[in-house]
Amino acid sequence: MKSNSISWANIKYFGNELEYAKEALDSRWISGGDFVSKFEKEVESVYRGKAFAVSNGTAALQLALQALSVTPGDRVIVPSFCFQAAGNVLLQLGAVPVYCDVELSSWNQSLGNIQKVYDKSIKGVLLVHNYGGCHDIEKISKWCKEKSLWLLEDCAEAWFSMCSGKLLGQFSDIATFSMHAAKTITCGEGGLLISYREDLNERITQLRSHGLVGAPRPYMNQLAGNNYRLSNIHSAIALGQLEKRTDILEYQIARQKKYTSMLGELKFGQLQHCIGDGIQLWAIGFQLFPHMLTISRDDIMDLMQVSGIATRPGFYSTDKLNYLNDESSYKNSKCLSDDIIVFPCGSDLTMTEIERTCQIFIEIVKNNTKYSVMEPSSSEYMSLLGELVENVRSTDESFRYFDSRELSIVADHDANFLFNLHGKAVAYGHLESEGADTWLGVCVHSGYRNQSFGSTMLKLLLATAVRQNISVVSLTVDINNPSAIRLYESFGFVVIKEDDTFYKMQKVF
Ligand SMILES: Cc1ncc(COP(=O)(O)O)c(C=O)c1O
Repeated sequence: MKSNSISWANIKYFGNELEYAKEALDSRWISGGDFVSKFEKEVESVYRGKAFAVSNGTAALQLALQALSVTPGDRVIVPSFCFQAAGNVLLQLGAVPVYCDVELSSWNQSLGNIQKVYDKSIKGVLLVHNYGGCHDIEKISKWCKEKSLWLLEDCAEAWFSMCSGKLLGQFSDIATFSMHAAKTITCGEGGLLISYREDLNERITQLRSHGLVGAPRPYMNQLAGNNYRLSNIHSAIALGQLEKRTDILEYQIARQKKYTSMLGELKFGQLQHCIGDGIQLWAIGFQLFPHMLTISRDDIMDLMQVSGIATRPGFYSTDKLNYLNDESSYKNSKCLSDDIIVFPCGSDLTMTEIERTCQIFIEIVKNNTKYSVMEPSSSEYMSLLGELVENVRSTDESFRYFDSRELSIVADHDANFLFNLHGKAVAYGHLESEGADTWLGVCVHSGYRNQSFGSTMLKLLLATAVRQNISVVSLTVDINNPSAIRLYESFGFVVIKEDDTFYKMQKVF
């Protein structure tokens, strides 16, 4: 019988894992053996590259980087927000990880982030598909080819995730996977490398196995390889899992849908939003808007643990990991590492357990909010909005939206919010479609500026735009309002037009 507590990740056997493991043991072939090649063939039937089973996901990364001839001093782009296996392996090889920030909505590297840190010294790009998602993968793959850079996809968290009809992993020279106990396909500890470069396959074969494959005489090493092999017993378990990938995926999709249905419309934060059809999120995280709350993310996690529910924080941003001495500042990574909470993702998690997890989370957060978010449907809304507009009109020249419009226009907006702090409207925001443009408007009560109400409203509006599949958002801002311009820039808006009084700024998702 299951206990009342919910672990972060529990494994479930879907098919012949136990039978195959026993078969491997009975055969006495427990190091190498048939299950290794059977597993690799099964992988190849899905991923259409050359598969190499290895001992874990980190070993797969190391083998991949050695196969790509990464040598000391080579500079390689990696994300500043991810499970730090990729960057660490680069350091172990004496290479130089060049960390780049991720996007706030997808939690993944975009082409824009990569281009910001690119220079001619860069040898390759290592993408880590955080939680199974991605951003701009097609553009990144094309750009790497144009620049003659190799591309490695760390798909440890992205088994079977797809974008534009292709599996993540198939966009690169080499893809690596983990089969750790918490991953979509598992055998306890295990990994996988898939090569899409025939010219590297011989080198990978040798590097995986001491450089002894096909040696003319025993112990006559052909190169300085390592032992990265996966055992026959582990391969047997992995094969049992992989054969049941349809069931595993079906379950993972249902789990994602359940979390999304319960958390997708909340106003105090946002779910990860990835670009691409067919994205399979391996774990579901929620990014809190901390300024709305009177409780920290870590205290929420502690309270959930008291209720028997295990969660995880976001990954540490590289500038927060002391051993890296990384003095750069990654605005989005830092935010995500402070504000994300990741919910249970085991393959034996029931829909009732997801419901309980979400209900407890929502209750904790709702009991600890600083102010409420109102929408035009509430009766108090119009009078509070009227007071706020009056205040802004009398103290501020820069928000002129309601000078030429009735307040009732709010009913026509795509989204419209007021922050109600103890009966007072302290901030207003909207999204409004006009022709091909979606316009964003924000104002803050004069007595409540510089207290993060404006930036939180922006986060909420941008999260709403993403949910509504809006791909470009525009705004106008007074050119004499540098602090607002800086704020918009920090959210990725760029000036696309200017006249004597206003800038038109745009953000493309
Ligand atoms: C993105 C990512 N890369 C690499 C790894 C390392 O894999 P392993 O634990 O199998 O070595 C992990 C975690 O397990 C991961 O999440």
